[in-house]
Parts: sequence; structure tokens; C-alpha cells
Amino acid sequence: MCGIVGGISTEKVRNFIIEGLKSVEYRGYDSSGLALVINNKCEVYKTIERVNELDKSFESSFDSFLGIGHTRWATHGVPSVKNAHPHTSKSKLFTIVHNGVIENYRILKKELQAKGYVFKSDTDTEVVAHLLEKEYKITSNVLEAIRLTIKQLKGTYALAILFCRDQNHLYFAKNRSPLLIGHAKKGNFLASDYLPLLKTASDFVEIPDFHYGSLSVSEIELYDINGNSIEFSYHQTNLKQEALEKNNYPHFMLKEIEEAEQSVRFLIDNYFDGKKLLFDKDLIKTLKDAKHIIFLGSGTSYHACLTGARYFRELKKNVDTYIASEWAYYPYNNSKDTVFILMSQSGETADLISCVKLIEKQGSKIITITNTQGSTLARKADHVVFLYAGIEVAVASTKAYIAQMTALVLINAMIRNELNIFEKLEEAIVSQRFIIKDHEIIKKVAKEIQNSSSVYFLGRGYDHDLALECSLKLKEVSYIHSEAFPGGELKHGPIALIEKDVPVIVFISDHSTSDAMRSNICEIEARGGKIYVVSTQELSQEGDTYVIPNVRRFLSPLVSVMFGQYLAYYVALYKNLDIDKPRNLAKSVTVE
Ligand code: G6P
Repeated sequence: MCGIVGGISTEKVRNFIIEGLKSVEYRGYDSSGLALVINNKCEVYKTIERVNELDKSFESSFDSFLGIGHTRWATHGVPSVKNAHPHTSKSKLFTIVHNGVIENYRILKKELQAKGYVFKSDTDTEVVAHLLEKEYKITSNVLEAIRLTIKQLKGTYALAILFCRDQNHLYFAKNRSPLLIGHAKKGNFLASDYLPLLKTASDFVEIPDFHYGSLSVSEIELYDINGNSIEFSYHQTNLKQEALEKNNYPHFMLKEIEEAEQSVRFLIDNYFDGKKLLFDKDLIKTLKDAKHIIFLGSGTSYHACLTGARYFRELKKNVDTYIASEWAYYPYNNSKDTVFILMSQSGETADLISCVKLIEKQGSKIITITNTQGSTLARKADHVVFLYAGIEVAVASTKAYIAQMTALVLINAMIRNELNIFEKLEEAIVSQRFIIKDHEIIKKVAKEIQNSSSVYFLGRGYDHDLALECSLKLKEVSYIHSEAFPGGELKHGPIALIEKDVPVIVFISDHSTSDAMRSNICEIEARGGKIYVVSTQELSQEGDTYVIPNVRRFLSPLVSVMFGQYLAYYVALYKNLDIDKPRNLAKSVTVE
């Protein structure tokens, strides 16, 4: 989704902003823009091309010690130069970039139009630029204008603001959209993500919701919505810039698929001291005592939740799983005693943040499982489990899913006091290595299905969870229509879709369902469907497409999912698509 970068420094900031925007490109965007304060004037340039083009086309002599930049993922108004950020107020006093959604922008726009403000874009953001100017004209004080403006806004925002007559300050405001301050000797910087800041800053400040303030080269001022000055503290991050390198891989997605073992090992290293598991004792007690657990997630994280719920059901817990955006509107089972497990790679998914508000209201406990330290969902939780998977750059999640599954396995092992889990995980790692070493067959399947209009995935139980994830991967990066069904549902509708040569990928890694799956295969073959069976060794039969070394049933999603990840990758590769940045998708969906 949208990215923000800004800075005020003793050194010129154009390069910092351009490089910063490149580092958030992976999150997905459709246009970009840059503003620099030069001689009390904001020089603005916007484009619907890539950030590289932004740099090439913006007058090369322009540079400044103060500026802001933005990558936009369209919500209000089509991707176009006029809708790209930055947006400028009527008399060009304020120039701003914004992430989030201003929910009441229509009313505000009407009021401003009635006062003579002319809008140049279709965005909700432009309202904020004009409001700032309107309030400034009344108060003659920039900070007060910001305070009065954000008091009128309903919705979510991370704002970086230039007041073009002031070369010494970069202003900001934040509510429920990520925004961070990075502090360095040479200046202060803003970004919606750590990545643009990693090379430049070593100390970071979280900006709380409904807060605003200003940055000068050496000072940070932070205020609450009532105008009170707020104390803040610095923190550091263990994220590393190197994670943004492809290391000879052609795409991040391939690199990240092949970091599967690392995802499992990093979690073990962080949560096992050689003798015992190290999850917070209160977290384990919360889960042991829980009468009812609800898992919430979106996309890939939701699929990890489905399997997580199975693990907890095996502990005789009453467990439900919901897609976050669904639960947010239909918050069933809302008792105080319910424990919520929020699964999110980014920790910033807006649908989950909406759930948090409801959960907080009912006073239930929140456990967040996330890959992003300091993220909103990490901060809102009673207990946090970090995934330590390293930055995941490709939009389609791969290694983070494996880390999510591993974390769930380890948490369950601690609850059960089961230390032989490590042997079982080693078996899973052996199987993962096998797939990494030997996946020529998967490439062949990818070649065969690349021109199909639909592909179906089938499985039961754990295999159905991973079928859902494989199907999502395929549609995300190859744009092929794909669906996953439980084997038992085949005859209740989906079988109507089976005709000659329709590809159906079937997962078999569970003794208890393998016979039923073999019957499904016969039913599909009888209708001309093209079957590809992915089975574990002990359940394999002659003619199966791909046989994976044995792995425990409950660990099969950690391994067999790699078949689907590679398949999606190679189909997208053969179709010559933008694998790491699939169309219309964003890495972190920060608007509902
Ligand atoms: C977006 C991404 C998906 C991701 C989902 C949930 O849709 O494109 O890859 O699975 O968000 O993201 P989260 O950060 O909450 O795991």
C-alpha cells in the first residue's frame, strides 16, 4: 500500500527520498511523487511511472534539505498524475502526502468548496491540504492548524506535511496508519515503514495515534490532540538493510520460498534454549486457561489460522477462525473470556486493527503473532509472538506463512510440554530441502497449466488448509482463476466445473482421508479432469505427480505448501509477469 518518506537534514534529502521510495516499492503502488522545499517554495513532481522515472523526470538541479515523497495505491480516484501525492493547498502554503482514508472527506470537501476552495484531484487527501490552509489563515500557527485539522478528520491517516514558508521544519500527524520517526545526527526523518530509514537512522520513535508534531534537524516535538507536549522514547530495530538484497536470485519470491528452513530455524533459535521452550509463561497460561479461542487473519495469515485452530482443537479447546474483515462486521462470540489470536505478517492490516477496537471494548485478551516488531498489532496486544522470518519483500507471502505455522507448532508443543517436537520439525526440514533441491516436476506442471483458465486444488483437513493457500498463491502471482475445495465438497457443486483437461491438484498427506481423496481422484478423472497428485511417500501410489518425503500430518502444511509456492512462481515466470509486485495487490493492506 501507500508509502511515505520524508526528511529534514544537514545533507540534501532528494536521494534519501528516492531511495526510500524504492525500498517501499515492494508494498505495491501505482503512482509516486516528490516535493522539495526550495527558496520558500514547494517544487512538486508526480508520475504514474516507476520511482526510477520519478527521479529521472524531476528537474535534476532540484534538491533541498527538506522534502517528502510518496508511493500511492489508489483508493479514492484512479491512478493518475492529478491523483498522485503530494497534494497542495489552494495558495500553495501546504504540501502533503497521506496514507489512510479520510472517511468524512465528502462533507469536508463540500464545506471547503462552499468557501471557494477548488479541488484539482479526486482524492480524499486534498481535503486535508485545504483544511490546513484554512485553519492556518485563522490561527497563523502551523502546529495549531494541524491540531484543528486532525480534530475534524474521521478515518485513518499518516501525514507528512510541508509548510512551504518554513524551511526548518517537517510536520506530521498520525492516526491508525503507520508512521515512524527515524533520528540521526544529521537530521530527522519520517517513513511509513522502517525500511527507508534503516541506512540513515539508528533510533526510532513511534508516533501514537491522534498525535502530531514537527521535526527540525536536531529536534522532535510531539503533541497530543489537546496540544499537550508529549514525552517520547527512542527504540532500535533488529531489521537489516541486507534483507532487501536479492542475493543472486532473480526474484524475491524465489529467494523467500527457499528461505523456508531458515524460517523454521530462526524461530527455534529464538524460542528454544536447548532445554526448554521460551515463550512467555503468561502467554502459555492465557492459552491453557482459555475456554474459547478465536483466530483472526486475512489472506495467507487466515490460512495459517485455519491450521492453527486445528492444533488448538486437538488440545480440546473450543476454537473458531474468522477472516478478520468478516468478524469486524459480525463480531460473534464476543465474551470477555474469549482469547483472540491475531495473525499478521505485517502487523498493520487494517481489517485486523478494526477487530482490535471491538476486542478491546469487550475486554478480551489479544495475542498477536507477527513478523513486524513495533507494528500496530504488536503494540495493541497483551502478548506478542514474533516470527523472526526477516523482511518479506515479495507481495505473495511464502516464508512468513512457514514461520506462522512453525510458531503455532512450537506454542502448542510448550502447552503440551512436548520436547520431541524438534525431531518432527527436523523431518519437515528434510522434506523442505528435498523440494528445494528437486522441483523439476513442479516446473513441468507449471508449463502445462500456464494457459489454463482455471485451476482447482483439493484436499481434506490439513491438506484443505494448504490447498486454500496454494490456490491463493496461484491467483495472486499468475492471475489464473483458481479455487480450493475440501474433497468432500466436490460432489456438492464443484464437480460441475470439471471438464476435459481442467487441472486439479490434489494433496494427500493424511492417512485418515487418503482413501476418500483417491475416490475423489477417480470421480475427477471420469469427467476428463487432469489430475496432479502431490502425496507423501507412505501414501503415494504409482502415477502420482510429486512425492514428498514423509512428514507428520500436522506438519504437512509447512512442507507441501512449497509445491504450491513454486508452482505459482513458475507459472508467473513463464507468463512473464511481475512476480514480486503482482498487479493490484499490496504487501500490507492498511485500508479497510
Ligand atoms: C495482503 C497481502 C497478502 C497477505 C494479507 C494479510 O492481502 O497481499 O499476502 O497475506 O494482506 O497480511 P498480513 O500482513 O496481515 O499477514
